[in-house]
Amino acid sequence: MRTLHAIPALRETLAAHRRAGRTVGLVPTMGNLHDGHLALVTEARRRADVVVATIFVNPMQFGPSEDLDAYPRTLAADQARLETAGCDLLFAPDEATIYPRGLDAQTRVSVPEVSQGLCGGSRPGHFDGVATIVTMLFHLVQPDLACFGEKDYQQLAVIRRLVADLHLPVEVVGVPIVRAEDGLALSSRNGYLDDAQRARAPELYRTLCALRDALEAGEPTEATLARGLARLSEAGFAPDYLELRAADLGPVGETTRDAVLLAAARLGSTRLIDNLTLTLP
Ligand code: PAJ
Repeated sequence: MRTLHAIPALRETLAAHRRAGRTVGLVPTMGNLHDGHLALVTEARRRADVVVATIFVNPMQFGPSEDLDAYPRTLAADQARLETAGCDLLFAPDEATIYPRGLDAQTRVSVPEVSQGLCGGSRPGHFDGVATIVTMLFHLVQPDLACFGEKDYQQLAVIRRLVADLHLPVEVVGVPIVRAEDGLALSSRNGYLDDAQRARAPELYRTLCALRDALEAGEPTEATLARGLARLSEAGFAPDYLELRAADLGPVGETTRDAVLLAAARLGSTRLIDNLTLTLP
């Protein structure tokens, strides 16, 4: 696997692959890679001739009080994992390469509707930052397909909408959530949890499972969600949101069948998110 830090080298390398008629699959990440990220690489490997991963801790998507500086940077370990998972090329630019004129002067991409509420409600500007960097990576790499995790369900919806609205020639592939044995969705932020918090963390997933079963059995939404919030609080979480939405993140209506339960909750200062899709009766 080659690692490139500069844009001209990336463009030249990819142009050669394209001239040879090879398809390109992209896996954007912020590094500190775990098995969830590697599942995206495996999926891209299955679908494309050349797999390109990117590692860039994107300052534009972090709020002023968020963990940008503390975000774990583990390039050497990440390179080894990517290589093992079958990645061909890693693009790991620095901030000055991506934002040479600084963040304030940077053109932004905004995806209104789907960015509202849920994580967009508690992290203002976050999805503009995600949409901007992903648009930039799509232009730099010009992939045939790009893989994103269903763990960040709203992010995936934002990217699907961005691709549709801007008529970008990229197939967006959603990859199922990879979980630890006890159900906790793998996340770089799990590393912030102390032992006691880590032991309690899977209660988020267990609560979502119980709510899914209740909703699929036809129990009323409002009371079920209220029960879920109480259960999370009892387990020591400070819930940010717990919502039932249609699978496309629109509101649930009389005829909605495909739906998704989404939650974000803090354990101490660590914010965990999770979701489960379900079929309403
Ligand atoms: P990051 O949090 O590093 O995640 C990179 C990709 O890995 C995302 O598509 C995310 O959904 C996926 N992922 C993370 N944990 C997962 C899990 N347990 N199972 C399946 N997929 C998982 O998401 C970002 O970075 C950034 O916002 C980015 C898209 C790179 C833009 O900066």
